[in-house]
Amino acid sequence: MDRKPVIAGNWKMNMTTSAAVKLVQDLEYKLEDKGNLDVDVIVCPPFTSLRSVSTVFEYDKPKIAVGAQNMHWEEKGAFTGEISPLMLKDLAIRYAIIGHSERRQYFSETDEMVNKKIKSALNHKITPIVCVGETLEEREENKTQDKIKKQVIAALEGLQGLEVRKLVFAYEPIWAIGTGQTATPEQANDVIRFIRATIASASEPEDATHVRILYGGSVTADNIKSLMAEPEIDGALVGGASLEAESFAGIVLGARHS
Ligand code: PGA
Repeated sequence: MDRKPVIAGNWKMNMTTSAAVKLVQDLEYKLEDKGNLDVDVIVCPPFTSLRSVSTVFEYDKPKIAVGAQNMHWEEKGAFTGEISPLMLKDLAIRYAIIGHSERRQYFSETDEMVNKKIKSALNHKITPIVCVGETLEEREENKTQDKIKKQVIAALEGLQGLEVRKLVFAYEPIWAIGTGQTATPEQANDVIRFIRATIASASEPEDATHVRILYGGSVTADNIKSLMAEPEIDGALVGGASLEAESFAGIVLGARHS
């Protein structure tokens, strides 16, 4: 199965609106003359910059799609401080990162909340980028597969096969995020193969072959090619290196099949 690569930039809580606009304009410029990239390129700015960033792409034939870093599962109501899928659709947002480890860790997001967000995103034609990953302690105690299996099964709860095919997963070992300590391509490939097998057992094997599964954790323009050389790795979710046009463009170009 030939799956189109995905490179998504997770800006986290960085960038004022003016800095965000400058970054995407620089990025567009760097990718402009590179022809058909054959990579789905996504930037995920903070909520406050979504409108301005999607306006930059409004009139062009965009090579870059815009995603949110989170969303609530309800369409509206008394949920102070939250952003709904309807609000994201209104801004032409096509992706949402769901269940990032920082949200699970600092904002107490549970597997059940992650599942509700996934279902809601799909209902609003927003593609969820579902994050899963183990802590260093869990890896050292040989509990990586248990943790990943639990997160993946919970994420898929109640989804139909055709919905499963639309998902993007990101394997992000918590010990590799923002630490400069990348998982080796083999380590990442092994866990991603396991994620695909888990999806196959929870849904249909054919569904699992469509799901794009990314690696995330200290990805750079220098290590992207060796990660992409692995058969199971379909792209990357990039934090720190997505904050500069030069490094993010380098990752996008390094992810191309040819
Ligand atoms: P990093 O972050 O690339 O800075 O390690 C990745 C992420 O948290 O998505």
